[in-house]
Amino acid sequence: MSKPRIGVIVGSTRPGRFGDKPAEWIAERAKATGAFEVELLDLRDYKLPFFDEQTSPAYAPSQADGAKAWQDKIASLDGFIVTAAEYNRGPTAVLKNALDYAYNEWNRKPIGFVGYGGVGGARAVEQLRLIAIELQMAPVRAAVHIVWADYMQIASGDRKVSDFAHLNQAGDDMLGQLGWWARALKTAREA
Ligand SMILES: Cc1cc2nc3c(=O)[nH]c(=O)nc-3n(C[C@H](O)[C@H](O)[C@H](O)COP(=O)(O)O)c2cc1C
Repeated sequence: MSKPRIGVIVGSTRPGRFGDKPAEWIAERAKATGAFEVELLDLRDYKLPFFDEQTSPAYAPSQADGAKAWQDKIASLDGFIVTAAEYNRGPTAVLKNALDYAYNEWNRKPIGFVGYGGVGGARAVEQLRLIAIELQMAPVRAAVHIVWADYMQIASGDRKVSDFAHLNQAGDDMLGQLGWWARALKTAREA
């Protein structure tokens, strides 16, 4: 079996976003395991409109420019890691929109989360877990939560994500679980 291909989705798009830092860190850590092919997916590169289709992509092809490119990219991958900013105690609208703009392409694939914010993005991540279940995904138990005290040091440039041993440990736990599910589900999908 070829290595599972993992997409690391930067889940925010605003100028000056924090999301690049955890995305690059977890992508490097995932590559270093040697267990995955890893690709960074930046929602800025996919010009999805706010969802404006006759029906869910579960039932009919999407019409919007950009939708097919996004769906083809998701279809090509075996699992996902999402950076989860928390906006007003929920996931970012741009990430929810991108999740809504595919369906079958997400099915039967694992997803892990790197949250950040006041309480490590925990409230956004919990909502994302429910959304993932509706998309027929397998959200893995272990997640990274970068709480505010750590966030501030990383955002200021004083320290890097990789300087925090507990974040490295949480990242490795999540990658271990994601790898297991990615291999198991890839084998099952291919059978
Ligand atoms: C519209 C908005 C709402 C926010 N709401 C929350 C919140 O509910 N909880 C939280 O922990 N942080 C909140 N924050 C602060 C974010 O955690 C912080 O700005 C973070 O950097 C956002 O991610 P981004 O930089 O990748 O966009 C909010 C930020 C914005 C822009």
